[in-house]
Amino acid sequence: MTTNLSDTAPPAWQHDTPDGPAPTHAGQDWSSWPTYHSATHGLRNYWYPVQWAGRVGRKPLPVRLLGEDIALVREGDQIYALHDRCPHRGVPLSLGRRQFPGTLSCVYHGWTFKLDSGDLCAVLTDGPDSPICGRLKVRTYPVAQRLGLVWVYLGDGPVPPVERDVPAELVENRFVMGGRSDIRNGNWRFAAENGFDEGHAKYLHNTALWRLFKVMPAWNRTRVSQEGPWLVRVQDELHWEAEYPGLGVWTNKRWWRRTPLPDRPGKGKRVNPVIDAMNIPGFVSIRLPGLLRVAYPKFIHYEWYVPVDADHVRYVQIMVRFETGLRAALFKVSYLAAIRWLFHGQFTRQDAWMVDVTDAPPERLYRPDVSITAWRRMLEKAQPAVQEPPRPAPAVRLK
Ligand code: FES
Ligand SMILES: [Fe+2]
Repeated sequence: MTTNLSDTAPPAWQHDTPDGPAPTHAGQDWSSWPTYHSATHGLRNYWYPVQWAGRVGRKPLPVRLLGEDIALVREGDQIYALHDRCPHRGVPLSLGRRQFPGTLSCVYHGWTFKLDSGDLCAVLTDGPDSPICGRLKVRTYPVAQRLGLVWVYLGDGPVPPVERDVPAELVENRFVMGGRSDIRNGNWRFAAENGFDEGHAKYLHNTALWRLFKVMPAWNRTRVSQEGPWLVRVQDELHWEAEYPGLGVWTNKRWWRRTPLPDRPGKGKRVNPVIDAMNIPGFVSIRLPGLLRVAYPKFIHYEWYVPVDADHVRYVQIMVRFETGLRAALFKVSYLAAIRWLFHGQFTRQDAWMVDVTDAPPERLYRPDVSITAWRRMLEKAQPAVQEPPRPAPAVRLK
């Protein structure tokens, strides 16, 4: 289904000029988006990537997701997720010991929990007939492993298959990938807005090494279209340079940069057939609960904004190439030698810098921010369950 969301703008956009929506105070206090406003700690009922599977071993690993502390533990090929708080006196279970197979023992008094069910199955300091055994459990979370990542479902009711929250093209095709995952400062909503923000890349990133040989437009005319679960930024006009009245010309062009290509995937020469078949009408897309897709002609970059707590976001970025054999091997080399440092490093650290210093609201939006308002409106329409802010949690060093 395709919907042009630019046609369904909120009342604040009604006083359009001939050149498009007039600047307004829309969103000054985020009151136009009450669900979004309250989603400080993220959205429930989704699968989230929380760590690389290879980093989880027998020793418990603490992670925080939507403000909830979780201990990840590996037993063979299986990874388990338990609420990282012993019900006895509130010590993090991630400090615990692996005393017996299939269990985790709290480091303080040896309360021992089953990894699969969370049941209290032994209390080592109260003897084999401890009467509290079998009377309580710690919460466990559904876990899956996809794309080399550990996915945790945080929600209520029936658990959907993890594939619901993984892009279909990554389920249906063979590909090679490289990626990074780190915890960054700032609320997850700023990270998502920054990702789908139409305006900033042309200016903020024109100093990035990744863009050294690739010119970007000075400005675009953009609308936002819904394609299935994705919102897509569609460029109706690209302007490579412009004369600013009374000031002069501004452009991203440089003599050494390649001639600009249309900023649209799947339409240039030598496009990867899988990306071509996806037929995405724009370069950048976003979907709930906070996943951005940037489709280049030969590879696709994905980034997840996984809420850690109100002030931190886990930023998981992967670069995917739909190739096998020699081309896949060459991509791996180029990822490790260049893409990892230039794109997943210096380029996206410029984004991290902005997410860290942004303190909106209040805010005063401008015409390209139609991308941000469309994203907020999609979330508002979907009315997802919002995670309640947690009560203060014990300090655990997250990895
Ligand atoms: S606090 Fe965990 S066993 Fe006492
Ligand atoms: Fe950016």
